[in-house]
Amino acid sequence: MNILITGGAGFIGSHVVRRFVKEYPGYHIYNLDALTYAGNLENLRDVEHQDNYTFLKGDILDAKFLEEIFEKYQFDGVIHLAAESHVDRSISDPLAFVRTNIIGTVNLLNIARDHWKDKKANKRFYHISTDEVYGSLGEDGLFTEKTPYDPNSPYSASKASSDHFVRAYGETYGLPYVITNCSNNYGPNHFPEKLIPLFINNIIENKPLPVYGDGKYTRDWLFVKDHAAAIDLVFHKGKNHETYNIGGFNEWQNIDLVKLLCKLMDQKLNRNEGTSSKLITYVKDRPGHDLRYAIDASKINKELGWSPSVTFEQGLEQTIEWYLNNQEWLEHVTSGDYQEYYDQMYK
Ligand code: NAD
Ligand code: DAU
Repeated sequence: MNILITGGAGFIGSHVVRRFVKEYPGYHIYNLDALTYAGNLENLRDVEHQDNYTFLKGDILDAKFLEEIFEKYQFDGVIHLAAESHVDRSISDPLAFVRTNIIGTVNLLNIARDHWKDKKANKRFYHISTDEVYGSLGEDGLFTEKTPYDPNSPYSASKASSDHFVRAYGETYGLPYVITNCSNNYGPNHFPEKLIPLFINNIIENKPLPVYGDGKYTRDWLFVKDHAAAIDLVFHKGKNHETYNIGGFNEWQNIDLVKLLCKLMDQKLNRNEGTSSKLITYVKDRPGHDLRYAIDASKINKELGWSPSVTFEQGLEQTIEWYLNNQEWLEHVTSGDYQEYYDQMYK
């Protein structure tokens, strides 16, 4: 099989690429990535010389380029992760999200539809999406696959739109697709604009930890390697034209998570207990901030037998270890444009 993975140089994409390259030596994995600020080939140093791996630098907005690579490599499957992924950036530049997340996805759908027209059997377009399309939960309840879409941020609206297009191509053109909607991921290689890696980096540097609003917002956290395992399973065993929710069964209010992170970081850095939590600073809230996300992952659990393999404490520990052992990676990604972004967001 020739498999196209888009966004493979990003956080989740790099874990998916690594897993597929290592687990399936009989497949050839093509990683298509535009290398935006979030794409980083350092994430894949350990697999870049494998015979069954090829990196293709390109933009999913470039339909001609997509046409050329589909013609040349005759892909059997697409796992589509390329996206603008950060909610705060979507608030300052929504059009970037419309372009990549909606138009980029439709470009890919068009090419897959045309190339697979007479040979749909055994082809698969796998669209990776988010639980944010469902909007916000109150104190109770969980998102199921039947929860109506109700996105609140430009990011989640763009992802919701892309999900609708994928489904529509299935209905209208018979494109064989599958979609998964996953909760918040964390783990190695996470770009330090998102809560956990940003706070790890700030603790290392003794910088304030900017908690939005009252810190009582709730997210359901999943270790990234468990998400990659779920993607592997759905790609191979999921049913066509189905959606599966993926989550960690692991809800945390931001402030409790931040306090746990501070405690673990104090231990790892041999600092007195309570040192890092002094950095906690409550700042202006994110506009349109969703109160609570929590996934009901019983469908993927019952139908495909997936469940997370690590506890949050184990995953967080591995994550912290990775950042402390990869400070060069952190230095590379926080130099240059990152400083400008950071100053605009937090000063
Ligand atoms: P990321 O921002 O770390 O990586 C995105 C990758 O896409 C980068 O390598 C970037 O260079 C590439 N990219 C961006 N625009 C592109 C374009 N126009 N053409 C080609 N490549 C482009 O994102 P992530 O956190 O790894 O998320 C990956 C996917 O998973 C996204 O679709 C996101 O919506 C979804 N998702 C993320 C999470 C999470 O918690 N991070 C949870 C659920 C779903
Ligand atoms: O739920 C899945 C989604 O999770 C993915 O689709 C997104 O791509 C991913 O970025 C993530 O979105 P969130 O907005 O939930 O993640 P983020 O890490 O930005 O924020 C997590 C929580 O922490 C949220 O309630 C906002 C809060 N926060 C975040 C930052 C960056 C802070 O309090 N301070 C911060 O500086």
